[in-house]
Amino acid sequence: MRAAHSPDVSFTVMLTIVWFVLARFPGAASTVAAECPDQWPELQPWNPGHDPDYYVHIGQGRALLLISSATVHSIHISEGGKLVIKDQDEAIVLRTRHILIDNGGELHAGSALCPFQGNFSIILYGRADEDVQPDPYFGLKYIGVDRGGTLELHGQKKLSWTFLNKTLHPGGMEEGGYFFERSWGHRGVIVHVIDPKSGTVIHSDRFDTYRSKKESERLAQYLNTVPEGRILSVAVNDEGSRNLDDVARKAMTKLGSKHFLHLGFRHPWSFLTVKGNPSSSVEDHIEYHGHHGSAAARVFKLFRTEHGELFNVSSSSEWVQDVEWTEWFEHDQVSYTKGGEKISDLRATHPGKICNRPIDIQATTVDGVNLTTEVVYKRGQDYRFVCYDQGQDCQSYRVRFLCGKPVRPKLTVTIDTNVNSTILNLEDNVQSWKPGDILVIASTDYSMYQAEEFQVLPCKACASKQVKVAGRTFPHPSIGLMKLKIVRLKVD
Ligand SMILES: *[C@@H]1O[C@H](CO)[C@@H](O)[C@H](O)[C@H]1NC(C)=O
Ligand SMILES: *[C@@H]1O[C@H](CO)[C@@H](O)[C@H](O)[C@H]1NC(C)=O
Ligand SMILES: *[C@@H]1O[C@H](CO)[C@@H](O)[C@H](O)[C@H]1NC(C)=O
Ligand SMILES: *[C@@H]1O[C@H](CO)[C@@H](O)[C@H](O)[C@H]1NC(C)=O
Ligand SMILES: *[C@@H]1O[C@H](CO)[C@@H](O)[C@H](O)[C@H]1NC(C)=O
Repeated sequence: MRAAHSPDVSFTVMLTIVWFVLARFPGAASTVAAECPDQWPELQPWNPGHDPDYYVHIGQGRALLLISSATVHSIHISEGGKLVIKDQDEAIVLRTRHILIDNGGELHAGSALCPFQGNFSIILYGRADEDVQPDPYFGLKYIGVDRGGTLELHGQKKLSWTFLNKTLHPGGMEEGGYFFERSWGHRGVIVHVIDPKSGTVIHSDRFDTYRSKKESERLAQYLNTVPEGRILSVAVNDEGSRNLDDVARKAMTKLGSKHFLHLGFRHPWSFLTVKGNPSSSVEDHIEYHGHHGSAAARVFKLFRTEHGELFNVSSSSEWVQDVEWTEWFEHDQVSYTKGGEKISDLRATHPGKICNRPIDIQATTVDGVNLTTEVVYKRGQDYRFVCYDQGQDCQSYRVRFLCGKPVRPKLTVTIDTNVNSTILNLEDNVQSWKPGDILVIASTDYSMYQAEEFQVLPCKACASKQVKVAGRTFPHPSIGLMKLKIVRLKVD
């Protein structure tokens, strides 16, 4: 191994070699012990402490077992000397300017049959301007193995790179999560009980508190039986107030709602809480009666699973009014009508095609050039409009209207398990990639401008060919295309 000199003034090269836990190899314990270098009987425990002036030489007859982090000037292992790193739970960090292994010297951390399972790092330190004589071959910072030297470093094998199997989409509900949407036919108060440990829906129910008082009682009872600590999402779809009695209103108030007491006819209302913790509640309520236009009561709240993954629970209770343009109606010979043209006349000519109360109107020449229109008169539903072409009345034109469709209720409940994160679908098994590892996602054309680093996050729901990474957005517009598809594990 050889590391280049750094001519820079202050610069620390870090070489970090990290191993992760791997399932034990099958076989009798004694065999395993014999294969593990740190079990060799001749080893003497070694704890050199932190002394940057200590020039370590491990020579004939010395076999040392490094049992804790240490800082030394440099290490030279030769003439049958051995240095073995103890495989233990506690991390070991060895700081030195260089390590030279030659002439029968040996350095071991794990072996092929007994991979290192702990966490061991070697940090090579030092500055170029410190007046240290470089080795003529290895330079200043190095782990150098010369003639007769042995270096054995064995950790868990990690897949070093693979391809994306699917175009990258930032986050979203595509992988896992929960999505619930209802409109007509699902009237009342809709409750979801969610497990705070996993972010999964345990149970959900609907209470038609428009139809009957009994449903109101059932709602209150249901809320009482939910165990403390569970997440509750409660929202109205369509109508939920007509037969809502005091018992139910009070049960919801106890959970932390401030608006449910005053829930009125067709009001959108959304609520999220943790049972037993009213101060955790979030709520939205609109005093709108479901006639014209749209209105939405929306809430969301972030939670963390027991494995530390964020999830976003959100709900919206809405009235939605979709709009649609009519077809174009042509006017070849328009005689000027005093006070403008009546929409009711047009409607009579084209029965069933134009709504009573258009939201917008648009006119163009027959060639499609925009004209100016103005609604000049309305009495009741008798709208009139005039059309101008550069200040003159329009001669020959076509006109269309924007009509509101009947309002419809809409309720959605969403659990997004990819908050600030993205799931990558890969071509190989990547179970060797662990939380904290850094990935580089790079373009197959190797442009450094099309590469980005991501940190691996814990992901219980991921399959063997999936990995979850921190971050949701990709600054390069071209990332997200299949073209950008090599994923490489970064070696620090
Ligand atoms: C290994 O130990 C180093 C130094 O203590 C630490 O920075 C690193 O996070 C550890 N890695 C793991 C995977 O525990
Ligand atoms: C992606 O992976 C899935 C499952 O492993 C496989 O069925 C599918 O064919 C792969 N798609 C591509 C484009 O390689
Ligand atoms: C949670 O979800 C809601 C609804 O989709 C969204 O508006 C909100 O931004 C999300 N919050 C976070 C932090 O992702
Ligand atoms: C005409 O008006 C419509 C609606 O206001 C607009 O979308 C369109 O771009 C306009 N066309 C031109 C050519 O200005
Ligand atoms: C999501 O990421 C942004 C940018 O890194 C950060 O500012 C924000 O706090 C993160 N949100 C959560 C909920 O972690």
